[in-house]
Amino acid sequence: MRKKVTVIGAGNVGASCAVRLADKGLADIVVVDILEGVPTGKALDILQSCPIQGVDVNCVGGNDYEATANSDIVIVTAGFPRKPGMSRDDLLWANYDIVKSTVEQAVKYSPNAILIVVTNPLDAMCHVAYKVSGFPKNRVMGMAGILDTTRFRTFVAQELNVSMKDVTALVLGGHGDTMVPLVRYSSVGGIPLTDLLDQETLDRIVKRTRDGGAEIVRYLKTGSAYYAPSAATVEMVDAILNDRKRVLPCSAYLEGEYGISGLFVGVPVKLGAQGIEKIYELKLTEEELAALHKSAAAVRELVEVMRPKLEAAATA
Ligand code: NAI
Ligand code: 2OP
Repeated sequence: MRKKVTVIGAGNVGASCAVRLADKGLADIVVVDILEGVPTGKALDILQSCPIQGVDVNCVGGNDYEATANSDIVIVTAGFPRKPGMSRDDLLWANYDIVKSTVEQAVKYSPNAILIVVTNPLDAMCHVAYKVSGFPKNRVMGMAGILDTTRFRTFVAQELNVSMKDVTALVLGGHGDTMVPLVRYSSVGGIPLTDLLDQETLDRIVKRTRDGGAEIVRYLKTGSAYYAPSAATVEMVDAILNDRKRVLPCSAYLEGEYGISGLFVGVPVKLGAQGIEKIYELKLTEEELAALHKSAAAVRELVEVMRPKLEAAATA
């Protein structure tokens, strides 16, 4: 039987995820949105691309969750994107309600699914999804590290005029201005990045990576990035559905790893059929660990702001 993936939110990221899932023939797809007609129309359009792509998957869209029943994976992209001048954290309250209600509905129909959260502010929204779903921590995760890392890889490849394929890198931490690109863990065809680029260039690339989302928002003006974000999300789906045991940076619930507890933060994980099958704890330098803790503190601030509302919802 074919696998089934639900995409909540038929906007830029959601629809792009659905297209990429269909192009790869990864699973049957259900797209849900509150907009009338839009998810149905987009899903039908995507379905009609399947004969050309040579894939046999179904793709349907609508407003209710019945069709999502027994999904293997639920991708949450519903919510507002930021506009120029906004930080991801500015989206907290608007997206809290959306993530809470969409996850509540989705998990009723798919109690065994794996949740991949995309909505910003990412790590805080993972926390909402985790609390609302009551799922074990291996089945709730966020997409951000792969996106931040692919931006870093792109800028390195451009700087050195080498194949993007040969650049490996790692960005940890929350998906925000305090993210932690780990230059020491980055290489090009096995050659440490620090042997290839001087400190000034590395600093420039790290800064551009941190500002990567905002750079695109400045150009788009009415929304944020979606092509690279959807590619990153579908890489996670592929790892899970095909039990690939990929090692990828994802937002995961930490319980003591890196000295951080009770928070979602971006770290390297093993992704397979069970979701997050392992969290890798790197031997960070004092400086790197301090940067990760600073990033985690920024996530904790948002979680603390939400806590009363989350606790009230849990006892309601
Ligand atoms: P968009 O505005 O194009 O699409 C959002 C969709 O969510 C809209 O179609 C809207 O109708 C729908 N929606 C709103 N409330 C809903 C509800 N209650 N139920 C179902 N659908 C609902 O926005 P876009 O560009 O797709 O971004 C979506 C979210 O993903 C934003 O919060 C954005 O910041 C975030 N994002 C996160 C990234 C990451 O790295 N984690 C990367 C890119 C975007
Ligand atoms: C990004 O980094 C919007 O968080 C999203 O592009």
